[in-house]
Amino acid sequence: MKNISVIGSGTMGNGIAHTFAQNGYAVALIDINPDALQRALATISKNLDRMVSKGSISEETKTATLNNISIHTSLTEGIKNAELIIEAATENPTIKKNIFKELAELAAPNAILATNTSSISITEIAAVTNRPEKVIGMHFMNPVPIMKLVEVIKGYQTSQDVCDVIMETSKKIGKTPTLVNDYPGFIANRILMPMINEAIYSLFEGIAGVEEIDTVMKLGMSHPMGPLQLADFIGLDVCLAILNVLHDGFGNPKYAPCPLLVKMVTAGDLGVKSGKGFYDYAAGLKDAKVAANFQK
Ligand SMILES: NC(=O)c1ccc[n+]([C@@H]2O[C@H](COP(=O)([O-])OP(=O)(O)OC[C@H]3O[C@@H](n4cnc5c(N)ncnc54)[C@H](O)[C@@H]3O)[C@@H](O)[C@H]2O)c1
Repeated sequence: MKNISVIGSGTMGNGIAHTFAQNGYAVALIDINPDALQRALATISKNLDRMVSKGSISEETKTATLNNISIHTSLTEGIKNAELIIEAATENPTIKKNIFKELAELAAPNAILATNTSSISITEIAAVTNRPEKVIGMHFMNPVPIMKLVEVIKGYQTSQDVCDVIMETSKKIGKTPTLVNDYPGFIANRILMPMINEAIYSLFEGIAGVEEIDTVMKLGMSHPMGPLQLADFIGLDVCLAILNVLHDGFGNPKYAPCPLLVKMVTAGDLGVKSGKGFYDYAAGLKDAKVAANFQK
């Protein structure tokens, strides 16, 4: 496998493109928004510069990586040579199903169709295609060039051959793949999101403050970041959407999102991306202070 296409050039798409390109693959990066493509190239270049300055890659590797990436606004053009297509577009079931319907028509018959979705059923996405056995989840973690895990998700009809190819390919780009079955939240978010929700419930019930909860988990459990700050980084709207997938998918009240999370998302306090969540980021990421409405 030499030619990869990545659909969506946002946070995840640019990281996935960077990682494959740095490992010698020819990557076609596709987005409907030409500005997003330019931003993605600038981000990849900046991230490569940081790696060069730290001495983890050479200037030649940087140049070769950038030369391995082409950008496209046309899906037909961008997937022309692809043996593996990784969809990393906006987390919206309609958008993703429309993309996969087009891929079913346009992609080479043997191409593997992967999705980086955080929460949408792989089986449901595969069902809109003419090749459900070739559809698989490749759930990368943010920031992709740094994080080692790829959660590989086997849909109900995904073939074992396709799982094997994707496990091998993940290793070739320096990642550690882990194979899981297709149930709501897969493994990563099924475990992470209830922990974050429980942290928000602890705050909501007045058991402890924002910093106290995060300190317990950082110093007591050796988590690099507390669950409330992590929720701010992921985006509180994203956390809410994933909890709703778990709640709807399992029908178990233990996954019901905390009312405080629902209220914060309604108010537009989404975390880092909106400038305020459990913490206020006005002074920058490093100097974030607990948001005023949570101070005791
Ligand atoms: N951000 C994370 O931490 C994270 C982690 C793991 C998985 N994911 C998943 O990765 C996917 C992408 O997330 P993101 O954070 O990079 O989103 P993002 O909003 O940063 O980027 C999405 C990009 O998709 C593009 N897009 C939308 N519709 C498109 C279409 N029809 N064709 C081509 N491009 C299209 C948008 O223009 C945008 O540039 C989502 O499924 C998300 O759940 C995100």
